Amino acid sequence: MLLNKFDSAEYRRALGCFATGVAVVTALDSAGEKIGITVNSFNSVSLNPPLVLWSIGEESLSYTAFVEAQYFAVNVLATHQREVCERFASSGENKFQNLECDEGIERIPLLPEYSAVFECRTEHCYDGGDHKIIVGRVLSFEDRKTDPLIFYRGHFLKSPSSPQVSP
Ligand SMILES: Cc1cc2nc3c(=O)[nH]c(=O)nc-3n(C[C@H](O)[C@H](O)[C@H](O)COP(=O)(O)O)c2cc1C
Repeated sequence: MLLNKFDSAEYRRALGCFATGVAVVTALDSAGEKIGITVNSFNSVSLNPPLVLWSIGEESLSYTAFVEAQYFAVNVLATHQREVCERFASSGENKFQNLECDEGIERIPLLPEYSAVFECRTEHCYDGGDHKIIVGRVLSFEDRKTDPLIFYRGHFLKSPSSPQVSP
């Protein structure tokens, strides 16, 4: 389909063919309040130095707070964390209600459960159309080696079989 004629719903459907993990990015806003958002735009950029990226839409209520945050954590969700995904995909306050978070570097909130976590310092913030692309340097990480939640075509993978891991 020609790029100048495409239908945006069809375009989104086509993008949904690209299966991703799901993460909740957490940080503190300028008042020291916890903020968090569900994302699937997370990706690795560079191994040396260790850089990762994710993007945030300008319609997100936490847009300015994340763009200004100097530190953030990427909490990669595990298979059983759909409720957490939905909770942080809703807009507004109270996302952290009844969640006992740990504190990471510079007191950034870390979810009690995750498959892996990456604690980052914001290194760059680029314009990306209606999103900002946030690049962070990974300062610390933990891999709990649980199966990750997988998202594609607007749905979660129903029963993930354990992937083959090469040595
Ligand atoms: C699976 C999934 C992936 C998402 N990925 C992103 C993303 O990468 N960037 C983004 O800005 N919003 C993403 N969203 C939407 C946000 O989670 C949603 O807009 C959220 O309500 C924003 O919260 P806020 O308005 O309180 O900041 C995603 C939602 C889902 C369900």
